Amino acid sequence: MKVFKYYIIWGFFMMFWVRCAPKTSNEKSVVEISSPSNNIKIGFSLKANGTPVYWIKHQDKAIIDTSVLGFELKDQEALLNGFKLLGQDTSSFSETWKMPWGEQQEVLNSYREMVVKLEEAEGAKRKLNIYFRAYDDGIGFRYEFPKSGDGTAKQEVMITKENTQFKLTDNHTCWWIPGDWDSYEHLYNTTKFSEIDALSKRKAASLMQTTIKANAVNTPVTMRTAEGLHLSFHEANLTDYAGMTLEIDPKNLSMQSALVGSQRTGYLVKRTLPFKTPWRTIQISEKAGDLIESKLILNLNEPNKLGDVSWFKPKKYVGIWWEMHLGKSSWDKKSGKHGATTENAKSFIDFAAKNNITGLLVEGWNTGWEDWLGKDREGVFDFVTPYPDYDLKEVVRYGKEKGVEVIMHHETSAAPRTYEKQLKPAYSLMKDLGIKAVKTGYVGKILPEGEYHHGQWMVNHYRKVLTTAAQYNIAINAHEPIKATGIRRTYPNAIAREGVRGQEFNAWASDGGNKPDHTTIIPFTRGLAGPIDFTPGVFNIKLEPYKDKNQVSTTLAKQLALYVVIYSPVQMACDLVEHYGEHPALQFIRDVGVDWEQSKVLDGAIGDYITVVRKERGTGKWFLGSITDEKARTLKASLNFLEQRKSYVATIYRDGEKADWKENPTDYAIEKFIVNNQTSIDLKLAAGGGTAISLIPATDEEIKNIKAYPRAK
Ligand code: NOJ
Ligand code: CA
Repeated sequence: MKVFKYYIIWGFFMMFWVRCAPKTSNEKSVVEISSPSNNIKIGFSLKANGTPVYWIKHQDKAIIDTSVLGFELKDQEALLNGFKLLGQDTSSFSETWKMPWGEQQEVLNSYREMVVKLEEAEGAKRKLNIYFRAYDDGIGFRYEFPKSGDGTAKQEVMITKENTQFKLTDNHTCWWIPGDWDSYEHLYNTTKFSEIDALSKRKAASLMQTTIKANAVNTPVTMRTAEGLHLSFHEANLTDYAGMTLEIDPKNLSMQSALVGSQRTGYLVKRTLPFKTPWRTIQISEKAGDLIESKLILNLNEPNKLGDVSWFKPKKYVGIWWEMHLGKSSWDKKSGKHGATTENAKSFIDFAAKNNITGLLVEGWNTGWEDWLGKDREGVFDFVTPYPDYDLKEVVRYGKEKGVEVIMHHETSAAPRTYEKQLKPAYSLMKDLGIKAVKTGYVGKILPEGEYHHGQWMVNHYRKVLTTAAQYNIAINAHEPIKATGIRRTYPNAIAREGVRGQEFNAWASDGGNKPDHTTIIPFTRGLAGPIDFTPGVFNIKLEPYKDKNQVSTTLAKQLALYVVIYSPVQMACDLVEHYGEHPALQFIRDVGVDWEQSKVLDGAIGDYITVVRKERGTGKWFLGSITDEKARTLKASLNFLEQRKSYVATIYRDGEKADWKENPTDYAIEKFIVNNQTSIDLKLAAGGGTAISLIPATDEEIKNIKAYPRAK
């Protein structure tokens, strides 16, 4: 790993990067820092009354106007004003680090940092430091509460309000979900900022009773300015703190941090000094796709603390899962149609082994499902005892024989105390069996009552699960999780999570399921936070004979494209074995990679369409995924990313001439051509459709026998 770290004493460095600007009547001292290429600037100052404020510019144009910073605390004076500037340190940092698996192999982490040191001018003389980092793809800032004061100051804080403000400069177009305290499983809304009305859009996942307290949005929330600049607001390194929603002030075009609460405690966050808050982040890019290529959120997290994690291998997986969502079988045994039987598991293993799929998820394997949605869910689930018709050891053995690893399933039914009590025996059992990954779930209202999925208490629970699992070499794929904030850099065993309206909604949502534009929005919103276990791969799009009202609102070819568009190191082929049958399109699922050396967004407009290409690690193969919303469109994809002077076999899985997500979703065609880096391909996407392409280095034989992609006339 290349690391260049050079700190330069602020007095000297400030001549270049920290500008002591002329003092205006209400600004005391102004300090400013620029990103490495100077395209982004962050300014800080204290108002005349000692209130800390900051602003952000892109190409010297304001994108965040002067906005206040501070806190309100329980049993203490607020930390909002009365500060003096003790000084500021600036430094530059540049490194390239490697992802153990991911969207790319190497990540450049290059920024300039300014630490502003504040102290109350009078009274207890409490201190507050603010770290600002300027990157070329955005900014981050965080607060530090140092051990401080004149000796009378309390060394513990209970935060009742975080007053971080983001004052926008215009009424941007926004892609947002409500600031629900329990669930991120909402459809995205596309409105002007002033039209955000989260309280009226509270309807959410049927398995969760959603909790929305204010006109606030969850993050990442993504915006586009009238000039076409893209901004996405989120947080990085959410550790021992409450998740942040952003409360909307439509009149003043301003947002303010609104931390998720607890009704048990009377505060939002409790911490002992010294401590640092999560980073408040804004990704900034001219092209929408650059938001996805930005690695800002990861860069604001600490390096890998687990060392060698090669025990986990990215994988495609199948599972006893979709059949429960369709109602073909059930998780519990009482219903008489238990899905998790030894025999059923073996049939999935046979299918996986034949189709280059190396994982098998089995839900409903353990006792407790009869009561999982009941009111008193404490003590219901047992994470070591299989139902009698499921021979866990035999399934694991059979899987090993066929090269398919079992992925464990732990539905906690949002009773985290019950889960915590069993973490060690549950993970010991997995370790003994050689099981390397578990999908966790938190359906329902959190027990104890008064806690919420996204509050500090649960943030700490999710982290405890992650770090305990790491001790057993176990990777976590959390459903109903806390949002991703780049923790996977520090704890790579945080492989994936849900935290999105996933495929499951298509089976049972009372609104009919996800709309055709859903997957053209989530890569630019939720996807910026981290890997999504979206579970693509439905081939039986109309869900017959199981459902009459719902269907999947995509074409079959679009299901294939999702394997490339949505990143996750675990990608499910979620449909039933009998629905894949002899479909030639299954070849794409067999071939597609799950671990990447490079990823690029060739083109994209949020909510309309997106085209992504990724190069598989170690094979030289490329894959392309392109999807559209409800509109049919033709896009061009230049293959100039391919290696020069090399021929590839492009196998194109496209919508058929009559394809349409509603009327004719399974009409698709497969074509093969020889292509190279001079080729430009027409992507003809049907309404709600997509194209998936595998680009595999060609043999001499193939170059001879397969025709070249026709040149544009
Ligand atoms: C909700 C999860 O998102 C889903 O994938 C799972 O099947 C159920 N919970 C049961 O655990
Ligand atoms: Ca879910």
